[in-house]
Amino acid sequence: MSPSGDTTEDTDSRIGIKPPAISRQKVAVLISGRGSNMGALVSAALAEDYPARIVTVLSDRAGAAGLEHARGFGIAATAVPRSEHADASSHEAALQEAIEASGAEIVCLAGYMRLLSGAFARHWQGRIINIHPSLLPAFPGLDTHHRALVAGVRIHGCTVHFVTEGMDEGPIISQAAVEVLTDDTPATLALRVLEAEHRIYPLALAMLARGEVRMGGDGSSVFSPAKPGR
Ligand code: GRF
Repeated sequence: MSPSGDTTEDTDSRIGIKPPAISRQKVAVLISGRGSNMGALVSAALAEDYPARIVTVLSDRAGAAGLEHARGFGIAATAVPRSEHADASSHEAALQEAIEASGAEIVCLAGYMRLLSGAFARHWQGRIINIHPSLLPAFPGLDTHHRALVAGVRIHGCTVHFVTEGMDEGPIISQAAVEVLTDDTPATLALRVLEAEHRIYPLALAMLARGEVRMGGDGSSVFSPAKPGR
């Protein structure tokens, strides 16, 4: 901030100097269904100063609504259906090929409902993240909102974490808490958690793309300040 309150960028643009373009990490988003989290990532990446851009959306289901949603944003969206492959490993190899062909440097799982192999997780280690609808390590797996209500927790929420071999076990990058209301049903709770998901997933991806978080050697998340130029 200058003494007059201007930012350097404002001053530069007045005198015709363009600030250096930020380098944006290329991201592949894997979905299986409606793709609302994918939409939140794509929307965030429309901002010029967002440090990542979505280069491809891939689905294991041909009928996933998120594919059309992504195309509406002008993003290449392709189905890699499991049904067209003899086994899980040849399906995963096709997925890997499609991700590599897109040039993606980061993979975001956004409601991708298929378990990925340990080899896949190791290949992308530190560059693959997932959003899960609970405050991990509570309620890994499916049906999280119903299970939270049955357990009687008063605080529920969502988590963005690095993907590792174990399901929903990787180091946590970001979480948001959501109060459980006394009259909540799984559907009403899911709705408020989803709003929180849409807030934190773009923030967590930005942190990863800027190098503000990485997966450490001991399998924990290591946080550091933003690097210049990102
Ligand atoms: C989200 O609740 C996400 O946390 C979970 O699957 C759901 C996907 O929803 N992994 P959408 O397809 O992003 O709308």
